[in-house]
Amino acid sequence: MVYQILVSDPLSEDGIQPLRKADGVEITIQTALTPEQLAEKIHEYDALLVRSQTQVTRDLISKATNLKVIGRAGVGVDNIDLEAATEFGVLVVNAPDGNTNSAAEHTMAMIMSLARNIPQAFHALKHNKWDRKSYVGVELKNKTLGVVGLGRIGAEVAFRAKGQRMNVKAYDPFLTEEKAKKMGIGYGTLEEVLQSADFITVHTPLLKETKHLINQKAFEQMKDGVQIVNCARGGIIDEEALYQAIVTKKVAGAALDVFEEEPITDHKLLELPEVIATPHLGASTKEAQENVAIDVSKDVVTFLTGGLARNP
Ligand code: NAD
Ligand code: MLT
Repeated sequence: MVYQILVSDPLSEDGIQPLRKADGVEITIQTALTPEQLAEKIHEYDALLVRSQTQVTRDLISKATNLKVIGRAGVGVDNIDLEAATEFGVLVVNAPDGNTNSAAEHTMAMIMSLARNIPQAFHALKHNKWDRKSYVGVELKNKTLGVVGLGRIGAEVAFRAKGQRMNVKAYDPFLTEEKAKKMGIGYGTLEEVLQSADFITVHTPLLKETKHLINQKAFEQMKDGVQIVNCARGGIIDEEALYQAIVTKKVAGAALDVFEEEPITDHKLLELPEVIATPHLGASTKEAQENVAIDVSKDVVTFLTGGLARNP
């Protein structure tokens, strides 16, 4: 029996070596299929490997009559209809650790860029403006970083922020006083974290409970002049509420790697000088892409050939 595996989003070539080397599997790489084209051919495959671009909807899964496993090369599985996968008996595996470091480093880069207006100043200089007055920043030292969601990435960001001599205060429903103490950080309710932070960074998954967790009410609780970062998922921060909070000067700056709808190029938030952004680059390092592709490829092969997947 030869299992057919479709890779429908760009994955690291080094990372998919476990698939290339495995006996009894054949890989097809087609990363530019339209949803309609994918729906037409999905019945030919036993496994589907995606990043975040392919939307694995109920409709697609219902047409995938031979599909046994979906591998998500990354953390977030919000582009996969998990309920439908379960209903149709399709296993979903992800790669929860491989891009933690990259996402944490990107978050720190965003915080530092925000604090020192680096993207805006660079943009001005590229346009022949030597402007030192407009880009006076703030130091991170002794400022409070509020971390909402202290999982893998949130915790790595917290460690790094301490290295910048920031005070860190986190909110996570699973965070205990003991754990916070061990990590040398403070903890509080969401409201307490929002009230005390100079910078806020969100690192929760996008769930029903976290959709628009940072909404108008949350912005009202924050300090005037707060700066906010989202390198987790679009939709955790309510974009309309963020826009209003920036134009009314409640929020002094925002750094966004993710958006409620992706891809986007024209968005009213991007027109504001206080907003800096990247096109979902948190996990886009050579190392992370290799890690997540290796992890998920191994799991998919193991599962197809009768073993137990590590990250179901
Ligand atoms: P994780 O599962 O390790 O951590 C998530 C944490 O959020 C958990 O500790 C959980 O208890 C907490 N949480 C859940 N609901 C919460 C709530 N209502 N309030 C506060 N905390 C809550 O996940 P992770 O690997 O740290 O990833 C975090 C986020 O980053 C995910 O959304 C993931 O998809 C995203 N991500 C983005 C990129 C990128 O390219 N920008 C890269 C990797 C991960
Ligand atoms: C993830 O959830 O792992 C990230 O958003 C990165 C990606 O989508 O590849």
